[in-house]
Amino acid sequence: MKNLILALDVYDLKKAEKLIEATSPYIDIFKVGPILFLQYAKEIIKILKDNGKKIFLDLKFHDIPATVKRSVEAARELGVYSLTVHSLGGHDMLKAAVEVENRPKIWAVTVLTSQAATLDEVTKKANFAKSCGVDGVIASPLEISSIKKECGKCFQVVTPGIRFSNANDDQKRIATPQAALNDGADFLVVGRPIIESTNPSEAAKMFCDKTF
Ligand code: C5P
Repeated sequence: MKNLILALDVYDLKKAEKLIEATSPYIDIFKVGPILFLQYAKEIIKILKDNGKKIFLDLKFHDIPATVKRSVEAARELGVYSLTVHSLGGHDMLKAAVEVENRPKIWAVTVLTSQAATLDEVTKKANFAKSCGVDGVIASPLEISSIKKECGKCFQVVTPGIRFSNANDDQKRIATPQAALNDGADFLVVGRPIIESTNPSEAAKMFCDKTF
């Protein structure tokens, strides 16, 4: 329950509410990205807070340092638990983000799990992001061991690309929840295998059983 994050990648607020209700026994952190946030920012934040849930705001900030600093400040005012920035934004942008006072956790995207990437490339990006002071990175399950070895056990690795079997979608660098956890993943992000399931509650339970 503590390390499974559900990606609420739906357009419809009612559908999001149903998913939160159905998966609530199994999930404490919900990821809100642009699909829902663009239309229902205030509403979805309120619903999640009213349900006692934590919010992972996945807007992948990638802009000039001053803009990213203000974006992190704005996210802090929403009371989110964590947010994402792009490691590609560079040293000054990452520093501007991490220096915001009382900020949410900041996780830097290394290389999207929908793209091919070498272990070396992702590990280097993680190392760089760590040197700028972020709390962790988003990487695929295939890179967890290497990142933990290079950046230390306390540096968080958050992994999308979690599948029980071969994905028939856009995710390229994937692994099972068991494999990701064995390698030391701090959080697993799962979207479509749960939100598109005919029984999201049962699907969340399945992932949850594998994460504890
Ligand atoms: O549906 P699926 O399980 O592939 O959802 C994964 C989620 O993680 C999506 O919301 C996607 O935007 C997000 N994500 C990702 N790869 C990253 C960063 C975020 O797939 N590097």
